[in-house]
Amino acid sequence: MMLKLFLVILLFQKANSLPRDDFKGSNGLVVIEEAHQNWVKLMGSFNHSLLQKASNKFTACRTIKVHKNPEKGDFVSVQGAINSLPLVNLCRVVISVSAGIYREKVVIPATMAYISLEGEGAAKTIIEWDDTADRRGKDGKPLGTYASATVAVNSPYFIAKNIAFKNNAPSPPSGALGKQAVALRISGDMAAFISCKFIGAQDTLYDHTGRHFFKKCYIRGSVDFIFGNGLSLYQGCHLHAKTNSFGALTAQKRESFLEETGFSFVKCRVTGSGALYLGRAWGTFSRVVFAYTYMDKIITSRGWADWGNKSRDMTVFYGQYKCWGPGAEYGGRVSWSRELTKQEVQPFISLKFIDGYDWLP
Ligand SMILES: *[C@@H]1O[C@H](CO)[C@@H](O)[C@H](O)[C@H]1NC(C)=O
Ligand SMILES: *[C@@H]1O[C@H](CO)[C@@H](O)[C@H](O)[C@H]1NC(C)=O
Repeated sequence: MMLKLFLVILLFQKANSLPRDDFKGSNGLVVIEEAHQNWVKLMGSFNHSLLQKASNKFTACRTIKVHKNPEKGDFVSVQGAINSLPLVNLCRVVISVSAGIYREKVVIPATMAYISLEGEGAAKTIIEWDDTADRRGKDGKPLGTYASATVAVNSPYFIAKNIAFKNNAPSPPSGALGKQAVALRISGDMAAFISCKFIGAQDTLYDHTGRHFFKKCYIRGSVDFIFGNGLSLYQGCHLHAKTNSFGALTAQKRESFLEETGFSFVKCRVTGSGALYLGRAWGTFSRVVFAYTYMDKIITSRGWADWGNKSRDMTVFYGQYKCWGPGAEYGGRVSWSRELTKQEVQPFISLKFIDGYDWLP
């Protein structure tokens, strides 16, 4: 393990220690190309050795019903149902939420593992609130992006199905500060979201830390609307931008070469209004891949932004593979993003990217 790390660091230093002058010479270009190929190979070779081994539980030991009408369910709010569970939860609990708009903030503590939240459909069962980062909390201090979330999940093995998470804060004018408004924050490892909706504007989905699977979800926002340092696979999702000016679909925050994180979008659809980057390099080693994805003409031809910091051009990993539609055109993309080869894209397009064969049913 130590040896492996050491080798990785050595290789990386080699790739990173290219003399700056070499950028100009033709020989230099070859060296850079080689370094990049090595880098791509390494990116796909991680076996997530740093992450915990999975032991999920799927058989429910309990079902709790949430209903707006107190006579028809066990609780009238989602948080009410959560609060009724033991702080250390050891078996799968299904919280079934009937149709309706639930105006509340929900927090699931880190010790309450194995919770499933199931609605009656993402158009019918909605949890909503409207906090922004600059709103003051009970202690008089601004909440910050982290605590602006309508629903915050801190525990492992969380599952959500057929339900919508919404932050109703109005879309801020461009350049406004403190208007981040998270609809859902996922900070627990090994979470799955199936047929869910995430609705917001700036910073809609905080894909904070851990391995996550999003399947057939709808995610709407304006700036950085999928952001954080998770290791996540988005499969068959619809990503919808709603911005009058510039926005970014992702802001992935991988900060070091050794972090096993990144976002991969497979067979998704990108639509909306405004001009959109596929991603901005929030972290120095930001990693995002789009494969087999339809892109509407809202994607800027450059495709990616380096957060105004040129040194990140050498360390981010941004790739596309067989994307299509008017926004997928590769010609104008920044030179530091890549059209991946069939071999290079392999590690990013299956459940293996998130060790999913271990913890998904
Ligand atoms: C990752 O695992 C595969 C088998 O699952 C193995 O063949 C490969 O050598 C491993 N890679 C590293 C870098 O350990
Ligand atoms: C640019 O990014 C590098 C790497 O993250 C960082 O060390 C440096 O401080 C950044 N420079 C500026 C001007 O933000």
